[in-house]
Amino acid sequence: MDYDVRDLTLAEKGRLRMEWAEMAMPVLRRIRDRFEEEKPLRAVRISACLHVTTETAVLVNTLVAGGAEVALCASNPLSTQDDVAAFLVKDLRVPVFAIKGEDSETYYRHIQKALAFSPHLTMDDGADLVSSLHFIAFGKWEELSPGVRQWARGLSSEERERMVRQVVGGTEETTTGVIRLRSMEKTGILQFPVIAVNDAETKHFFDNRYGTGQSTVDGIIRATNRLLAGSVFVVSGYGWCGKGLALRAAGMGANVIVTEVNPLRALEAVMDGYRVMPMERAAEEGDIFCTVSGDCRVVRKEHFLKMKDGAIVANSGHFNVELDLEGLAAITASRKRIRDYVEEHRLINGRRVYVLAEGRLINLASAEGHPSSVMDMSFANQALSVEYLVRNRDGLSRKVHPVPSEIDREIARMKLASMGIEIDHLTEEQERYLASWEQGT
Ligand code: NAI
Repeated sequence: MDYDVRDLTLAEKGRLRMEWAEMAMPVLRRIRDRFEEEKPLRAVRISACLHVTTETAVLVNTLVAGGAEVALCASNPLSTQDDVAAFLVKDLRVPVFAIKGEDSETYYRHIQKALAFSPHLTMDDGADLVSSLHFIAFGKWEELSPGVRQWARGLSSEERERMVRQVVGGTEETTTGVIRLRSMEKTGILQFPVIAVNDAETKHFFDNRYGTGQSTVDGIIRATNRLLAGSVFVVSGYGWCGKGLALRAAGMGANVIVTEVNPLRALEAVMDGYRVMPMERAAEEGDIFCTVSGDCRVVRKEHFLKMKDGAIVANSGHFNVELDLEGLAAITASRKRIRDYVEEHRLINGRRVYVLAEGRLINLASAEGHPSSVMDMSFANQALSVEYLVRNRDGLSRKVHPVPSEIDREIARMKLASMGIEIDHLTEEQERYLASWEQGT
């Protein structure tokens, strides 16, 4: 079996950590038990490009229980948990291609390995797998990293076409990936249906908000060990992730400033009790900055130059493009690594700015990503969406599809049941009332 992980002797530690995660994932456990009996994914090959974490191991275990063969590569060079990767290879015999801290060339070579698995289904977190597959199929060599380009050029055009033709569908985990896929759909290039798992309510209401909120604060604290109470904490982007982050930073006693470009979201932040201002002004006030916008160059050269001596900057958005690190390099006189995940930039104006985790998502780089309990719902969406794709393999158009609302509701029901929480049900009279337009006062 082909694989590339750091060290197989870490497998036992990975197994124990996976067991700990699984305890907090009751919905996925129930799905796994059903999959075990029904085998809905029998003979289905899945290539997954996800953060290689304990929760992902629980998902992979569920898919394998359903009869699938799975290959896994990382969706970020810094988020891999090497012990989990070792466990998956050694105990579950899953080909994993992921090493924490891998360079960009290795990252894309690992994606190529997952594609060489000849998947029927893709599972993405950021759309790197699907986009690479399409670049290969359409011969867009300039978009590929040198190693992958060389490999892809060695394939015949029929082989490249077959790679994409045999894929019946895919799933996408995050906001940024869904944005990329919608753009592929719009330009007519998308070759198979993809389900936007991110857009399920049982995903982004909880994962993006509470998961990213808690784990981003956790990542910043683990990297810096700084006190949040009394600090000025700037959150850029008041979407689902930004709301959670602002809430948790305020809960730790920080004075939160929000920067936004969307007037509605900005207004919401104001009414939620935060100060809202442009980055140009926030730059002068902040002690800690964290971007979660899914946009590029949100914090730029001119902002870095206005920051206080000792300002800390981090990103929790999907790609490492939210902090303009090239712009920062151009105004940096000297730099040094102060501790793990903390790099000091002494600027040409003499002030020091500290960049965390090379601007990569801080919650997965210096902490462990989202707590298992929220990933329980996100990955339940993944597992059930994959089953849905297999069952409806001939009926879905080459578009980005929502997670069917019955799946979303069923996951919410299962989660509540696992928490022992009951809710009310509509009476017949209420159902009639809510369905009618005739009834007024
Ligand atoms: P969202 O679309 O709900 O919110 C993004 C917000 O950023 C929007 O309100 C938008 O107006 C704002 N924005 C865009 N450009 C901006 C700019 N230049 N300055 C200030 N605000 C700006 O997206 P969501 O779900 O909150 O995701 C944000 C990012 O976080 C995405 O890249 C997503 O993939 C990623 N993500 C990261 C996770 C993690 O574990 N760290 C988990 C889930 C999502």
